[in-house]
Amino acid sequence: MAKLHLITYGCQMNEYDSERVAGLLKAHAYELTDSETEADLILVNTCAIREKAEEKVFSKLGQLRALKARRPELIVGVMGCMAQLHQGEIQRRAAGVDLVFGSPAIAKVGELVERVKREGRPLLVKITATPAGTSHLKSYVTVMEGCEKRCTFCVVPVTRGRQRSHSPESILAEVRGLAAEGCREVTLLGQTVEMYGRDLAPLTDLAALMERVEAIEGIERIRFTTSNPFNFTSRLIHAIRDIPKVCEYVHLPLQSGSNRVLERMNRGYTRQRYLELIAELREAVPEVALSTDLIVGFPGETEDDFEATLDMVERVGYDNVFVFRYSPRPGTPAATMPEQIPLEVKAQRNSRLLEVAARAAAERSRRLQDRVVDVLVDGPSRKNTRELQGRTRCNRVVNFEADGRAAVGDIVAIQITDVLPHSLRGALASLPEETVCLSR
Ligand code: SAH
Ligand code: F3S
Repeated sequence: MAKLHLITYGCQMNEYDSERVAGLLKAHAYELTDSETEADLILVNTCAIREKAEEKVFSKLGQLRALKARRPELIVGVMGCMAQLHQGEIQRRAAGVDLVFGSPAIAKVGELVERVKREGRPLLVKITATPAGTSHLKSYVTVMEGCEKRCTFCVVPVTRGRQRSHSPESILAEVRGLAAEGCREVTLLGQTVEMYGRDLAPLTDLAALMERVEAIEGIERIRFTTSNPFNFTSRLIHAIRDIPKVCEYVHLPLQSGSNRVLERMNRGYTRQRYLELIAELREAVPEVALSTDLIVGFPGETEDDFEATLDMVERVGYDNVFVFRYSPRPGTPAATMPEQIPLEVKAQRNSRLLEVAARAAAERSRRLQDRVVDVLVDGPSRKNTRELQGRTRCNRVVNFEADGRAAVGDIVAIQITDVLPHSLRGALASLPEETVCLSR
């Protein structure tokens, strides 16, 4: 077997694509290695969402070039969003790259690698196709490609194109296959996953899809991400409430708390509408955990606008907040808007926002103290390998001593004993032995 090393940047779609690539290349006699220096083929799966992400890739490609200088037979490929957006620039700035292909070409990765080997010259590819994935205890399943929205800061519609939902049949077949291989949790993925199925004939939606995934034996948990608040319907809220396997966790990017900024971002909702949505969600699903994405330093963002964002973080009470400094992306309307915000201001707002978000999240976490929660066991704890680690339905990490009474893949009842800043500690709930392991 030849050795494949995968380097993955960016979102879960990229993680998913990397898994697919590993699966597909197995058929071409490539096995995975953790070691760059051992690899015969290195594929860098790239992200173009912010400039920082792109810089990381270019610096990595620089390092790989040095590696390749010592081992000319090494093949280096670049895939993912940068491959789609900057084919030419990659070739120019990163000599030594043998293969550049966008995500639509993943199905052909085996052939592409064979061609590079055979022809011994660099290859640039753009083709379309959609293949199937590989499996784990927890898997991501892409249910739709692209995005129909035109948020003025975002490069995704440029790199990933228009919305294309996959058919429910193909998704269900994929999930059944995953379940048969031991998968217990699926995350349904799309850039605006709440829009799933609206482009299909016959028309369908995410709630209907989740109902059908619910019926698949072996799957215990269903998650979905990312949702745009604009299209988040009551029907979807009811689906979260009523479909037992759907976890009480929603990632709902707000981006900004200021209506003026939201409008310039073209997000399609106001802070009032967002708060109404949260109220409806909490009313239906009181346990729901919320997380969000926020951008600081969008062009024209004033101190008042920024304070409106701080205010929203305190009002909503998120379990987790992801903060991004606005980064101008080629081909997007916001990149050429006047009043770009200086880097120092972005940095300062970034840390102020993180501070408020951390305080609000700590407050939210306290509700979990002493509670008994279901934990899906992922594997040994990172810090102490004698302990096990898993996640709650609300997606929090829990570490606990198992004493041989729980194994990877089990769902166990854990009583939370300590609420720490980034994780929870717990103990197997003192229930009768046979009810401790709720599954198997
Ligand atoms: N589909 C999702 C977003 C996908 S991109 C949605 O509807 O919100 C993931 C996150 O990256 C976004 O939520 C946004 O917060 C951030 N992001 C996207 N483009 C950005 C840019 N140009 N600068 C800074 N952050 C950006
Ligand atoms: Fe980007 Fe907005 Fe779509 S953030 S992915 S254009 S919903």
